[in-house]
Amino acid sequence: MPNPRQATHPTSIRQRLLRLAPYFVHQKWVWALAIGATLVAALTEPLIPALFQPLLDNGFAENQLPLWSIPLAVIGLFTVRGLAHFVAQYALARITNDGMEKLRGDLFAKLVRADVSLFSRQSASALSNTVVYEVQIGASQLVSALIGLSRDGFTLLALVGYLMWLNWQLTLVVFTVAPGLSWIMKVLSRRLYSLTKESQKATDDLAYVVEENVLAHRMVRLHGAQAQQIGRFNALGQRLRRLALKSTAASAAMTPLTQIMSSIALSLVLVIALVQSREVGSGATVGGFVAFITAMLMLIAPIKRLADVANPITRGLAALERGLALMHDAPEETQGQHEVERVRGALEWQDITVQFNPEGDAALAHIDLSVRPGETVALVGASGAGKSTLIQLLPRFLNPSSGQVLLDGVPLPMWQLGSLRRQLAMVSQDVVMLNDSLAVNVSLGQTPDREKVRQCLEAANLWPHVQTLAQGIDTDLGHNANQLSGGQRQRLAIARALYKDAPILILDEATSALDNESERLVQEALQKLMQGRTTLIVAHRLSTIEHADRVIVMERGRIVEQGTATELLARGGAYSRLRQRGDGADTAQTRQPS
Ligand SMILES: Nc1ncnc2c1ncn2[C@@H]1O[C@H](COP(=O)(O)OP(=O)(O)OP(=O)(O)O)[C@@H](O)[C@H]1O
Ligand SMILES: [Mg+2]
Repeated sequence: MPNPRQATHPTSIRQRLLRLAPYFVHQKWVWALAIGATLVAALTEPLIPALFQPLLDNGFAENQLPLWSIPLAVIGLFTVRGLAHFVAQYALARITNDGMEKLRGDLFAKLVRADVSLFSRQSASALSNTVVYEVQIGASQLVSALIGLSRDGFTLLALVGYLMWLNWQLTLVVFTVAPGLSWIMKVLSRRLYSLTKESQKATDDLAYVVEENVLAHRMVRLHGAQAQQIGRFNALGQRLRRLALKSTAASAAMTPLTQIMSSIALSLVLVIALVQSREVGSGATVGGFVAFITAMLMLIAPIKRLADVANPITRGLAALERGLALMHDAPEETQGQHEVERVRGALEWQDITVQFNPEGDAALAHIDLSVRPGETVALVGASGAGKSTLIQLLPRFLNPSSGQVLLDGVPLPMWQLGSLRRQLAMVSQDVVMLNDSLAVNVSLGQTPDREKVRQCLEAANLWPHVQTLAQGIDTDLGHNANQLSGGQRQRLAIARALYKDAPILILDEATSALDNESERLVQEALQKLMQGRTTLIVAHRLSTIEHADRVIVMERGRIVEQGTATELLARGGAYSRLRQRGDGADTAQTRQPS
């Protein structure tokens, strides 16, 4: 496996560019076009000062130039130059956007397949920053800087070539400033790189505060936490502002410094040129001198841009490397080969320990449990006992610290994940819906069969509500189905589990948000669904588990009791204490208004 540290900090710029190459060089002919057009555009540059020489020497002085040739040369030159610029620009956009699309696509594909631990390490806003903005900024800055580099490089070469041809001694003077220039560029670009990295982090933090305040907008208002949140945001905003100013200072220093360097060269050249022209028999003409100075002055623009090129390259690389780092730091979920169309549904937890943090208590400690195919098992216990943790192991959203879980006798890591997860229908404690239509949410991952969607909604007792919606099952639900009540969302999650029709059913507090009447109706549907399926139910309302074949009582990560509800009640142990203590207070008898 590549070492992520090494992968994100390769030594040279060349190496770093090479790692990005696969995304930006797949269309070689576009590159050829871009570079070809750039080359043509660059070659037209010295032609402009070159035009002055015959114009001044022959046109004015000796009146030998035919008049028609002047517009022909000028218009012709600018047409070629313009066309070349257009083609180069377009090809550049092609390269950038194609590369960006590919990289973004790969990143998103990586995101949806990544091991779930990624999401505890990186926030949603940081990930969306990487995939959406950083890639965009990086690709456009980098590619345009590279093309600029080649354009200005070629222009520079063409102009220098022309200058050499005009007067090589003078031209050599220009090169005396080169070492100074390169040193300035190196120092400043190093500083820019570290500032860019820091700014990325600061931008993430800022976006994270916004994300959180959107999610928790009600709580923030209810608790009057606005001032606190504004303070938090402003502190981060200030940090970002400082960093932005620092990096502006670094990049803005580049221009005047290079200009001073250029002016040194320019003044030297002017002095020497004038001295040379005074020598008799030097062959110097006014046209030649004007052409030289014009070409000289034309050097400044590309030199200035070349001096600045480190800036966008550095920024672009830093941004794209963040994308690459995501690729490297987000390993895909590991899986095996085992595939089965439909399992029998035998589950077994063997000596399972789950330890979230090394210092704290284990969330699950040496759990042994086996569930027969078709059996309905209820998990009860105080909050934090480890019920959800036990369940999260099944779809491998979590991997045990030690021990193994088996499905139909095959350890979970040996299963092909798709096949494993197809066997599980789950209504979890926190219902999450996509911002899409009701039908799409119910049939998630499959093409909606409208009749089946309707049946599932009916069974989940949500159909009466859906009928009141103008667009029925095509209604868009909004962000996390905000347009539904808590209980309606839960029934929608149940409809989704019904639609999946999997051999193993997992209900983690699936009916906790429902009123008695809805719960009774949904319970009937669930009861029917449980027939012939292995079912795990977690419930605080002990009434909802009356029909379970077996009740498992958990306490602080351990199984402390198991048996049928009646047996356990008769035994007067942990289960009966739970019931008496009021975890079961919400039972059919006591739920009636008193
Ligand atoms: N992602 C996590 N990181 C660290 N600790 C965790 C994580 N998830 C759960 N825990 C801890 O593991 C223990 C068991 O949590 P779990 O969610 O399994 O409880 P539970 O029995 O489902 O409780 P509840 O009835 O409240 O849903 C808790 O002490 C909890 O703090
Ligand atoms: Mg739980």
